[in-house]
Amino acid sequence: MINTNGPRLPLQSALDAAGLDAAQIENLWWIFFWVSVVVYVAVAIALFFALFRGRWTEPHSERAALRGVTIATALTVVTLFGLLISSVTTGRMLAANARDEASITIEVIGRQWWWQVDYDHQDKSKRFTTANELYIPAGETVRVKLLTGDVIHSFWIPNLNGKQDLISGRHGDITLRAERPGVYRGQCAEFCGLQHAKMAFWVNVVPREQFDLWAEGQRKSSKIPSSVSERKGYETFMSSPCPVCHTVRGTLASGETAPDLTHFASRRSIAAATLPNRRGYLAAWIVDPQHLKPGSFMPPMIVEGREVDPLLDYLESLD
Ligand code: CUA
Repeated sequence: MINTNGPRLPLQSALDAAGLDAAQIENLWWIFFWVSVVVYVAVAIALFFALFRGRWTEPHSERAALRGVTIATALTVVTLFGLLISSVTTGRMLAANARDEASITIEVIGRQWWWQVDYDHQDKSKRFTTANELYIPAGETVRVKLLTGDVIHSFWIPNLNGKQDLISGRHGDITLRAERPGVYRGQCAEFCGLQHAKMAFWVNVVPREQFDLWAEGQRKSSKIPSSVSERKGYETFMSSPCPVCHTVRGTLASGETAPDLTHFASRRSIAAATLPNRRGYLAAWIVDPQHLKPGSFMPPMIVEGREVDPLLDYLESLD
């Protein structure tokens, strides 16, 4: 059942469906769960009798034993078929949902170890790129196309739908339809190297008007540094290796191998939902990313102590 009572903890749970697909998967999960409970209890009771009954009564005839085995076998076959049918039925319902007309299309590219998120639009000037965070309008079907930039990853938002792999040379496809506004956590669900566990993202399900406002903001170029400190930080950023990997639209920074930072400050987290996007964490991440996320492709930045605050001011101005 879709829980419509507002966000609950834990934020990432396949048993707290916020959308139709997840609700159907959750129902299937509970069917399997209760059938397994019944089977487990039945086997435990049968085992108990088998162990102790023999001591108290005469042995059964071979005929009675055969009948018992036949009944147990038939029950097993019927149970397994029941589970098979419920599983196939759920699969069909999910496939039917996936054929729904989508109001927006998002392309997600999995990379070691973060998510590139491209919002598609018929009007090319309205396309934009962000990272490690999705916004989707509540009550609408959203199509997510899945690609990988390197190895196999798996896109999974337990509260909204099942898993979908991102495989080299293939286009994956999944639809999301969230009924309940809130923030949900997504997680890479296929081991993809050292930082697989820290390859997560946030999904913000918001009312349509709020989604439009957000998208409008994301389409804009980055803010021009206004204060003295922000300008200093901007210069430090541009003269460091940062622009080689990161893009900040509206500046010369146009690297494509790391997250787009144009509206970096509007995001909830840094390093693919590894840490909250707060000043202290950001400073630590810039100076020593290998300590926070060993193996990550972000190299440590050699910045002077006095350059750190302006750099943070600049990055925090990119909302
Ligand atoms: Cu990407 Cu695991």
